[in-house]
Order: sequence, then structure tokens, then C-alpha cells
Amino acid sequence: MIMKKSRVVIIGIGNVGVTTAFSLVTQGVCDEVVLIDIDEEKVLGEVLDLSQSIEFLNRNVSVKKGGYEDCREADIVVVTACAPMTADNNRLLWLEATKGIIKSIVEQVMANGFDGHFVVVSNPVDIISYYIYKISGLPGNQIIGTGTSLDSARLKCFIGELIDVDPRSINAYVLGEHGDSEMIPWSCVRVGGKDIYSIIRDNPWRIREEDLDLLHAKTMKAGWEIFNRKGNTAYGIATSAVGIIKAILFNENRIIPVSALLSGHLGEDDVFIGVPVILNRTGAKEIVELEMTEEEKKLFHASCDNVRQYYSVLNV
Ligand code: 2OP
Repeated sequence: MIMKKSRVVIIGIGNVGVTTAFSLVTQGVCDEVVLIDIDEEKVLGEVLDLSQSIEFLNRNVSVKKGGYEDCREADIVVVTACAPMTADNNRLLWLEATKGIIKSIVEQVMANGFDGHFVVVSNPVDIISYYIYKISGLPGNQIIGTGTSLDSARLKCFIGELIDVDPRSINAYVLGEHGDSEMIPWSCVRVGGKDIYSIIRDNPWRIREEDLDLLHAKTMKAGWEIFNRKGNTAYGIATSAVGIIKAILFNENRIIPVSALLSGHLGEDDVFIGVPVILNRTGAKEIVELEMTEEEKKLFHASCDNVRQYYSVLNV
């Protein structure tokens, strides 16, 4: 019996694409990594550079320059291509420039018989995920946007810094748009199983209720704090994407806040938005419908409405 090789295709080899490739290779996540970009010379350079690092890594991952025909046997296609980030501090403004690029990519991927999972990184990621869902014709569970996975990781990092606890011991989600309308259901935040408000009550010298708004603001602008210094962000978003890929390829049933299709979940329909999702080899297996306060629900619905208002631009 010939064992099928696991293959991840990355389309777009800008900073995020190549960092995603490097993370896949260094973590030995799959058998094959295929890079596609219009700049074929740069693709070849990245392939040569990555391939020559295998000696010092844990696994002999095959890295190659590819074409859309390689999507036929791909388990996952990562879409990172998008209009260049600009300092206007609003990812939604990149939609018009990115839409055309995405349409061309998805049409070529689907023309080659792809029936795996799209992991969408391109911003504005919630709207691009919905767009790919609509133009690919794939079932919704096969399109997963990075969504608020990175925002949630950033939030846990900031809470951990404030109260001196390992972020991995904190259960916290950012929900909604990966952007200005994202919200934090603080009533669902736990540190070592203890809810955040009890932590505030018992540890006033470590964290105050007014810190919650500060943490929200810090999380929301974290991407710009990086972009404004180095001209892009890459490591956080790439490792978030690889965490999603691992959950799918390794059938982990891991809960990650990603941009997923809501079909009546949490009172929302026909929208891709950041929610906790059980991810496994079927992709978005199940959405976790958190119990939120009435105020939190209002913020969540407002974020869905904010994203949905851009759907008219898509013409789908
Ligand atoms: C970020 O927040 C690129 O949107 C991504 O870093």
C-alpha cells in the first residue's frame, strides 16, 4: 500500500508565506510544502534556501516550486496573497485591491480539482474567507480563516504579562472580526480555571477591572504596533496558520478561534467570523457557542454586522 503524502500548498510567498513555509518545515508538519507565486525566481530562491536547511531539522520535508496543478493532491492550500499592508490601520480598506487577486487564485486552484481545506490568511481575512467560500463552492467547513486566532494569542500573552502567568494557562478568546470591531467575552476568560472577575476581586494589586479595556485596546492595535516598526507582521500570523494546519492534518480536535462559517450559530447566519472552533481532519468540525452576557452578545452581533456590510463589494 502506497501511503499518501501530506501536502500543503502556499500561495503567495511574501513575508507571511515564507514564514509559514519555514514554520511548516522546522516543525516537520507535513511531507511536502509547495510554494506558488507570480515571482517565480523568488519562489526558487525560497525553495533552495529552505531545502538546504533540512540537514539540521527533525524531518526531511520536501520543499518545491510548484504550480496550480499541485493543488489536486493537496490536503491544504494556504492563501496569503493580498494587497500590500498599508499604514491606514484598517484591514478592511485592502478589500478592493485584494479581491481580484483572490478570485484569480481560487479559480485556478479549483480548476485543478482541489477538494481539501483552504486556510485563509489574506486580509481582511473574515471577508476573504467568505469570498473563497462563495467562489470555491466548497462546503463551509473546508474554509478556515486565521480569524482571531492571533488576536486571542496576543490577548493571552498580554494577560499573562500583567498577572505573571504563562499564557498557556489562560483560557481567553477574542471573537468577531479580526480588526477594529473584535470583542472579548470577559465573562468566559479563565486563568487556571478561575474566572477573571474572581481573579480581579482576589488580586486587586495584580489586575483591576479597568485593565480589561486596556488589554482589549492593546490587543486590537498589536498588529499595527508591529507593522509600524518593521513594515509587516509575520511570525505571529504564520505560527497561527501552522497551528490551524496541524489541528487539521493531525486530526487534533483542538479548539482554536478561527474565522468560520456561522449557519445559525450564536444567532448569526451566512457570515464568516472569529469564533472558537473544534478543528480536525474535517476542517471546522464544530463551532463552540460560548455563553455570553447580553452586552457581550450585542458586541459580537455588531462585529458580524460590521463585516457583513462589506459583502456587497464581493458581488457573490
Ligand atoms: C496581524 O494582525 C497580519 O492581520 C495580521 O498581524
